[in-house]
Amino acid sequence: MKRIGMLTSGGDCQALNATMRGVVKGLHTMMGDVEIYGFEDGYKGLIYGKYRRMTGRDFSGILTRGGTILGTSRQPFKKMRTPDENGLDKVEAMKSTYKYLGLDCLVVLGGNGSQKSAHMLSEEGLNVVSLPKTIDNDLYGTDMTFGFQSAVDIATQAIDCIHTTAASHNRVFVVELMGHKVGWVTLHAGIAGGADIILIPEIPYNLNHVISAIQRRSEQGKGFTILAVAEGAISKEDAALSKKDYKAKLAGRKHSTVGYELASQIEAATGHEVRVTIPGHTQRGGSPVPFDRVISSRLGVTAAELIKNEDYGKMVIMKGYEIDTIPLAETAGKLKYVSPEDPIIRQAKNLGISFGD
Ligand code: F6P
Repeated sequence: MKRIGMLTSGGDCQALNATMRGVVKGLHTMMGDVEIYGFEDGYKGLIYGKYRRMTGRDFSGILTRGGTILGTSRQPFKKMRTPDENGLDKVEAMKSTYKYLGLDCLVVLGGNGSQKSAHMLSEEGLNVVSLPKTIDNDLYGTDMTFGFQSAVDIATQAIDCIHTTAASHNRVFVVELMGHKVGWVTLHAGIAGGADIILIPEIPYNLNHVISAIQRRSEQGKGFTILAVAEGAISKEDAALSKKDYKAKLAGRKHSTVGYELASQIEAATGHEVRVTIPGHTQRGGSPVPFDRVISSRLGVTAAELIKNEDYGKMVIMKGYEIDTIPLAETAGKLKYVSPEDPIIRQAKNLGISFGD
């Protein structure tokens, strides 16, 4: 009988439970009896031996439930090799929990940093299978991560709601969406919600071009403008700074976020009334949309197939609408950015959307 450990790591998202259910149902269907150990709060549970023995029942009725029944936490990869405050070697601690429980495999549901740790553990000799979790859709090697479509759904609803009030008051609205390094959520929700201007980290903006786009709309008799802005959107000027200088500039910034900074700059330049809406963590909350439930179930079952075949050291991915796998060594540590040359950017521009570039 196989013994499987499982953990959810990093920021939560809507389809974590749906994916774990897929793994466990797949294991039970294909292999009969398996022992499942769930680690609490991500890698923390593996480090400090906080786990619980779980059965199929624990994973029943959770397909539609957001969050994670295991709990999660952020354990930065770059600190994994640094001993904790009591001098504990975290990597050795994780290996010894794995050995103590006699695990045959560890299943990791995580984003970029978590995949790096999964790869490290695999290099350290543990059998690891991982699954691509994040609302950001920024994991290299997979076309889609679970959680992304659910976040886009919520972000789009926010823009939809802003539309009616923006039009009634003839105001400019900045809707600031999640994504520090990548703009996938903002790009998709911006197009789906009919935003007029989309600003993402991968395409630094020129403030004058953003202002011209708003003014052009006013001249066309359109009383309102909606900007979908990623939390990591950056001006061309700032993008030209060194990382250190940009950090220092951010530390001294008068406004708490890029959305508020843009709002005050637009107000000063155009005289328009500007309001800011930040859906924030609502984008990670609630029930997964049906699309996520489907891919999570398929990804989860595929992880179970890998375990059955003892085919370890891999992350399950989507290529187009097919499920596939990629060695952790190939994906760990690489982000999938929106390319300014991606046809979706050209198509959005041909719809009349400005990227402020
Ligand atoms: O990685 C997912 C994500 O929601 C990002 O989009 C966002 O920048 C970040 O996590 C927020 O992190 P936290 O929940 O730690 O504030």
